[in-house]
Amino acid sequence: MTHMKISSQTKIIDASQVSEYEKHLFRCITAPFRGYKKRIEYLKIVIPKGFHKKLLIFNGDAVGTIEYAPAEASYYPIFGDDIIVMNCIWVLRKAKGHNFGRILLEDMMKSEKDATGFVTMALENHWSPWFKKWQMEKLGFKPIDSLKAVHKMKHKGQAFSIYLMWMPTTENAKPPACDK
Ligand SMILES: CC(C)(COP(=O)(O)OP(=O)(O)OC[C@H]1O[C@@H](n2cnc3c(N)ncnc32)[C@H](O)[C@@H]1OP(=O)(O)O)[C@@H](O)C(=O)NCCC(=O)NCCS
Repeated sequence: MTHMKISSQTKIIDASQVSEYEKHLFRCITAPFRGYKKRIEYLKIVIPKGFHKKLLIFNGDAVGTIEYAPAEASYYPIFGDDIIVMNCIWVLRKAKGHNFGRILLEDMMKSEKDATGFVTMALENHWSPWFKKWQMEKLGFKPIDSLKAVHKMKHKGQAFSIYLMWMPTTENAKPPACDK
């Protein structure tokens, strides 16, 4: 993976470590700053265990985010030793075209040098615009397991696939497992 140069108008801030940006821990990028009880409880437990939420600031605005944690501190049912689960990555459409997604991903990988690999989820044929498989593949993740699902209430009868997406960074990395 090529190393991206960050321009002078761009910086990455760890909202879990810099108090000025703490309020960003409670929102994606654009939603209100309100702290939901469950999120506050989750953060209290996982920040000491290595959870990070980073923001990409471009010309003074937060336009991208990446959130990750060791498997035991992630909210996904993913298991494995010395692996990092990417809970979320998101770059606003208005900031597209700068490869900010890759810059955030590389920042995570540089910060987590002891990890044997990185893992996340992806969706196919889902009605939401989120976690599209091709986007996670473009970032370097590969599918290693999947399951087909239907929502109990919404879009009844529309089956979609959930993928376990893996990016090992060491030769003998043991792939993660998922509690389906
Ligand atoms: C994945 C994501 C982070 C990438 O954002 P980004 O870095 O700003 O993307 P860019 O516009 O700079 O494009 C990155 C690459 O994807 C390619 N790309 C962008 N849109 C594309 C499309 N529609 N089809 C094919 N390739 C595309 C670009 O050409 C570029 O390729 P290159 O690296 O070979 O030059 C962003 O699309 C995103 O946030 N998606 C939603 C992720 C999500 O669902 N998060 C969960 C939120 S709850």
